[in-house]
Amino acid sequence: MNAEVASVEERKQNLKGMGTARRRVEDVRFVQGKGNYVDDIKLPGMLFGDFVRSPYAHARIKSVNKEAALAVPGVKAVLTADDLKPVNLAWMPTLAGDVQMVLADGKVLFQGQEVAFVVAEDRYAASDAAELVEVDYEELPVLVDPFKAMDPGAPVLREDLDGKTEGAHGPRRHHNHIFTWEVGDKDATDRALSEAEVVAKELITYQRVHPCPLETAGCVASMDKVNGQLTLWGTFQAPHAVRTVASLISTIPEHKIRVISPDIGGGFGNKVGVYPGYICAVVASIVLGVPVKWIEDRIENLQSTAFARDYHMTGEISATRDGRITGLKCHVLADHGGFDACADPTKFPAGFFNICTGSYDIPVAHVSVDGVYTNKAPGGVAYRCSFRVTEASYFIERMIDVLARKLEMDPAELRMKNFIGKEQFPYTSALGWEYDSGDYHTAMEKALETVSYKALRDEQKANREAFARSETRSLMGVGIGFFTEIVGAGPIKNCDILGLGMFDSCEIRVHPTGSAIARLGTISQGQGHATTFAQILASEIGIPADQITVEEGDTDTAPYGLGTYGSRSTPVAGAATAMAGRKIKAKAQMIAAYLLEVHDDDVEFEVDRFVVKGAPERFKTMAEVAFAAYNNVPPGMEPGLEAVSYYDPPNMTYPFGAYICVVDIDVDTGVTDIRRFYALDDCGTRINPMIIEGQVHGGLTEALAIAMGQEISYDEMGNVKGASLMDFFLPTAVETPVWETDFTVTPSPHHPIGAKGVGESPNVGGVSAFSNAVNDAFAHLGLTHTQMPHDHWRVWKTAERLGVTA
Ligand code: CDP
Repeated sequence: MNAEVASVEERKQNLKGMGTARRRVEDVRFVQGKGNYVDDIKLPGMLFGDFVRSPYAHARIKSVNKEAALAVPGVKAVLTADDLKPVNLAWMPTLAGDVQMVLADGKVLFQGQEVAFVVAEDRYAASDAAELVEVDYEELPVLVDPFKAMDPGAPVLREDLDGKTEGAHGPRRHHNHIFTWEVGDKDATDRALSEAEVVAKELITYQRVHPCPLETAGCVASMDKVNGQLTLWGTFQAPHAVRTVASLISTIPEHKIRVISPDIGGGFGNKVGVYPGYICAVVASIVLGVPVKWIEDRIENLQSTAFARDYHMTGEISATRDGRITGLKCHVLADHGGFDACADPTKFPAGFFNICTGSYDIPVAHVSVDGVYTNKAPGGVAYRCSFRVTEASYFIERMIDVLARKLEMDPAELRMKNFIGKEQFPYTSALGWEYDSGDYHTAMEKALETVSYKALRDEQKANREAFARSETRSLMGVGIGFFTEIVGAGPIKNCDILGLGMFDSCEIRVHPTGSAIARLGTISQGQGHATTFAQILASEIGIPADQITVEEGDTDTAPYGLGTYGSRSTPVAGAATAMAGRKIKAKAQMIAAYLLEVHDDDVEFEVDRFVVKGAPERFKTMAEVAFAAYNNVPPGMEPGLEAVSYYDPPNMTYPFGAYICVVDIDVDTGVTDIRRFYALDDCGTRINPMIIEGQVHGGLTEALAIAMGQEISYDEMGNVKGASLMDFFLPTAVETPVWETDFTVTPSPHHPIGAKGVGESPNVGGVSAFSNAVNDAFAHLGLTHTQMPHDHWRVWKTAERLGVTA
């Protein structure tokens, strides 16, 4: 296209900037098998590590005999806790302020715990030798049920904490107690509940699930002893934070550590933490002087690497008889497993659970959370959600439906009646969060109208009558999930992890020929950052997105940032990108004015150029300015066109959405057919509608999985049940319904381009819509709540309990 004759509209299209459904640039290599994942990294002389893991959930280790393993050809070393002690690495700090055994030190606390690390010339030798390590265990009583964790006679799990009455988050009441965290006005909430006309109470459990990314966790550690340089490739969602933590615990200076996150096959919170495999690979590489790779298999990943949820939430919600909510109370029993390794900002041991007042104008609320140890794997990560926001969203959306039953009111009507009004934004919730913007009534009205909600309810009435007359064995359910997320952690004043403020960054270099590279502190795990961040910049600085390379994940080149999780990339790094772009534009404006021989204020930016005000035929394109930046800048100005922005957001962003699910349940088999799923998302300004749609499809599929089948469960001996893809539900195209997507646009007032995050919204909002639909199908039979996951067996059991099976 000839830029000189192109119209403003054509030039805009040429940029492929914000709002364009630009195709994903990263897919060119993914669809041709040219991705570069950590397991693709092969270095000369590289060894492989594999773990010996505990078959017991709770046992004392009396001895470890390595002899037979060391005799296997190709085996180079077998590390145990005793080998790590001299370098002070037998234990490591967790993100939650606890400590965790790297290799079992005297006892094991969960099935699958890492006991020894075998290093060999290839994976097979390492794996064979791991089987030959003889560990003498003495079984101890097992604690699986979190409700029994604080019984007086409960077994002592953490002997290392013996006598410690203070934890990272205040006093501990019991040897298996981690913390109590409280927020809100307890007295006022108790008063609201005791004076209320109607109170609904329910225990709502969000079961233990697992992010289960297609690519499991792994790393390659390579210690160059001559130069004292450690290079660590890994599946890290926060490479800079990993480098800092690695430096602090290894005492290798930070500038001598290079952390690289190559392509990542899905993270979903699973790859935020630091795992024993990383530490063992680094130690092995230091000891043996060659690179060491560790890649876990699927069962190891599901069994031991970062579970999510396991929240048991007892809620009470009060209202007037005509449905005006007056108060909300919640106590959470949080099962954190054997070590508190939750990924939460330092000041929030229960993450952002206190967003649990949801989208409603609730005058008073109180939340308390007790974290406890059990004989289960550690984790508590944000599985495609912003630090416990999905637990909060599920809780409030179920409580609203439970209240609606009690009031005998339509759940949509109850929601509309209690939504925070558009005019109330910025809105401060009873638990202290300032919601930036929202228009809930419009979103809900659009959703209800699109699915013909009233007609659905009429159809359901007819279905129930037909069911009563035994004319059908199928029950219809309609579930609404209206969510408000809190994403974009976050303002440094609120959010840090291990003392690292949660800002993010972007550095831009514009090259002389008018193309550019942008480097960010975040890291894509499939979200399409290389596509969308270039679009933000294209609109900001007028260089076509196709001429902008986006690079993330290499700590030697990218500016420091806190990484990608909690849908924070767009709210924080996206903002940094726009701000760095504006710095480029400000300098470019001065250069353009100089070239055009006018005052800086006499030129204005127009799509891809600076135009003299009132004389549109006089302009300098961004490409011309870029070249001039390297040979003809105003006197006194430095040459070059580069900028960096470290962005500390003034607030979080609060995307929201209205989801409606329609199901048909066969009561004799429990088979639940998802007839329809409509998802309206509002993520503020939309950067790439196609990528947003893809994110929503993916998130809804995960929500379907969680609501309808995923669970990491344990038997009474602490054996993990179903930690393989034979049993752990990962939906395929067969189980996945057609997703109908829609949107409204309510920009964030504080974000430079008005964008909010979206990646996690469908997971956060979807789960309650599915669950509410299943519960709704049985509501007329007296059901108020049945626990997830709603797999066929459980749904059938519910039908049986209600006496409607054949
Ligand atoms: O932090 P993460 O990348 O997981 O989540 P996100 O910030 O919600 O972004 C997910 C993807 O959706 C990115 O490629 C974003 O650029 C894109 N997105 C968008 O196009 N418009 C928005 N308003 C929000 C996200």
